[in-house]
Amino acid sequence: MPKNSITVIDNRTGKQYEFPIEEGGVVRATHFREIKTDPGDFGLMTYDPAFTNTASCRSKITFIDGDQGILRYRGYPIEELAEKSNYLETAYLIVKGELPDVKHYEAWERNIKTHTMVHENIKKFMEGFRYDAHPMGMLCGTIGALSTFYPDAKNIFDLESRRLQTRRLIGKLPTLAAAAYRLSRGLPYVYPDNDLSFTGNFLSMLFKMTELKYKPDPVLERALDVLFILHADHEQNCSTNAMRSVGSSQVDPYSATAAAIAALYGPLHGGANEQVIRMLMEIGSVKNVPEMIKKVKSGERLLMGFGHRVYKNYDPRAKIVKRTAYEVFEVTGKNPLIDIALELERIALEDDYFVSRKLYPNVDFYSGIIYQAMGFPMTMFPVLFAIPRTSGWMAQWAEMVRDPEQKIARPRQVYIGEKLRHYTPIETRPEPKMREDAVSDSI
Ligand code: ACO
Repeated sequence: MPKNSITVIDNRTGKQYEFPIEEGGVVRATHFREIKTDPGDFGLMTYDPAFTNTASCRSKITFIDGDQGILRYRGYPIEELAEKSNYLETAYLIVKGELPDVKHYEAWERNIKTHTMVHENIKKFMEGFRYDAHPMGMLCGTIGALSTFYPDAKNIFDLESRRLQTRRLIGKLPTLAAAAYRLSRGLPYVYPDNDLSFTGNFLSMLFKMTELKYKPDPVLERALDVLFILHADHEQNCSTNAMRSVGSSQVDPYSATAAAIAALYGPLHGGANEQVIRMLMEIGSVKNVPEMIKKVKSGERLLMGFGHRVYKNYDPRAKIVKRTAYEVFEVTGKNPLIDIALELERIALEDDYFVSRKLYPNVDFYSGIIYQAMGFPMTMFPVLFAIPRTSGWMAQWAEMVRDPEQKIARPRQVYIGEKLRHYTPIETRPEPKMREDAVSDSI
């Protein structure tokens, strides 16, 4: 029986160290501090920019096997949830760890819907944004502002408070997202209609015009709900890491969620599907696809919506999104960009450049095409991501708060700056030399 440990020999001293290998093939980085040349030495550190090989937590929420293309929430395959569940039920599963029975589902739905309204002052607050404000910037700022409306949210170690803030955040996200959209269009706000489903109500708050009651198209409502299920959590991605890291300072969850939304705003994260649409529009026609592939292979361009840090196989979410696209087109008519996307995928999956690098479509390759067909402007794409991801953020945040191993997140650094130097009077200093690390070369 092999021993579950690793032996490290420090060739500087000849000393030998034995560190345990814990569950999941993990060696604690802090063991390396024991490796010293003398007792006054700091010890060794591990260096891992972008955390490519560092686990920051133990989590029971989401499992990904990137080589096999597997994604599970609390043990349930994403394919089964996308086919049989709805977003609110999946959010319950993610937040609470188990699927609800009928009684618990109804209570959960009621509890979330109780919190779909926002304080009237929030409306005034949002009206303060410039007429062309990006909806994701508005969402980020407004969620941060919510912390001032709910000072009780500071009681992060109180279970009831955590439950309440979780319901509030999941319930209010669609309302604020829709308000940001309406404001950017110069349209009046639409108040929540709690007779509708979670997703149906969101569509109503977005698209209701003069009709007394908005009736969402059931196919589009279901398609958006499936997209919400697919985006609900994805373990330690950039925005979830932001949620946990900012939350580790014990700030309230609204402030931490604002940080997570800021992380999601970036083009390498929640903004990638917009880049896919821009790329497809630039290609313009199926006949121009080989030209784009040529540019990608020569290193001139990235094939947006392809590749993933974790998946080295077809992203299981992308398969479901692709199928959903055709259901949406039955109602909206075909988005012509799908033909270009399909041709790109066909050529890429046969080409050695992509095959050898294990580059497959990710969730963003087809999602923007659906959103565009449903009439969403590209600026709303990251907002549509933030709505369902809120359940994942809150589950991950609560897991972090209750984890006795967690402390304030505070990485180490390797200092590579100037050695000690002394202050001199300004009149006696030479003209400063321009440095590579300067923020700007102008005064
Ligand atoms: N197009 C062309 N080549 C690519 C692409 C791509 N989309 N992605 C990776 N490669 C190449 C790299 O150039 C590299 O080639 P090399 O070995 O010759 O140097 C090789 O494949 C390995 O790629 P890495 O950059 O090491 O992969 P990494 O894990 O760092 O990056 C990422 C992952 C950022 C997603 C990358 O694949 C990418 O930029 N894709 C396009 C943007 C995108 O779709 N992002 C959405 C991700 S999903 C999400 O966040 C919800």
